[in-house]
Amino acid sequence: MREVKIAPSILAADHADLKGEIARVEEAGADMIHVDVSDGHFAPNISLGPDTVRAVRKVTRLPLDVHLMITNPEKFYEPFLSAGGDIIIVHEEAASRSLLNKLAKELHSRDKKLGLAMKPATPVPSWLNAGSNPFDVILLLSVNPGFPGQSFIPTVLSKVEKVAKMVDSAGIDVEVDGGVDQKNASRIVDAGATILVAGASIFRKGDVKSAIQTMRANAGHTKSEVPV
Ligand code: DX5
Ligand code: ZN
Repeated sequence: MREVKIAPSILAADHADLKGEIARVEEAGADMIHVDVSDGHFAPNISLGPDTVRAVRKVTRLPLDVHLMITNPEKFYEPFLSAGGDIIIVHEEAASRSLLNKLAKELHSRDKKLGLAMKPATPVPSWLNAGSNPFDVILLLSVNPGFPGQSFIPTVLSKVEKVAKMVDSAGIDVEVDGGVDQKNASRIVDAGATILVAGASIFRKGDVKSAIQTMRANAGHTKSEVPV
């Protein structure tokens, strides 16, 4: 089993102290910073923009995982790249296959990564398989997009299993995003996730360090070993 990466979602952080919040998760061993971008159209919330990515880039060396929950990603991805995003994740529901192929070429030529995200109700496309897709990451949303602090939708676990089987041999990461916490982390990793995004369960628990360490410890356990 590959090592699991933890990606705190700064949407759930204290935005008046993003620098401090990021320093705390970095110190606690976070592997990347997840930046949720929503446009009030694809998702019913307006969240973070390229200026936030630029500001965050200045205060951390961790990879920035930019999740574009937006329509027309072709119009908006560039400022996020220029601002310092390392992984650009676009939604399957908002991008044609030709756009995805074009983005992959451009991002890879700039040493960046491309992710493909799906909402909880979106079926896994049949064309997604290890041999013929240009993605570095597949993100499965386990809440409806827009807001931190929602409950994990358990039916997404079977999609995680399905996608993990399709892409694992190609070394593509399977990222699970939404409602991930210290209790369900092991089930999600057992299903095949290699990146756990977590917002509220890291930034809204009071102690960021123990939140990350507990999640990491639990992610390495099998279901029956998880402390209740
Ligand atoms: C949902 C976002 C998630 C979410 C994570 O719109 O993509 O990244 O905010 O936050 P939690 O872990 O609190 O669900
Ligand atoms: Zn996200």
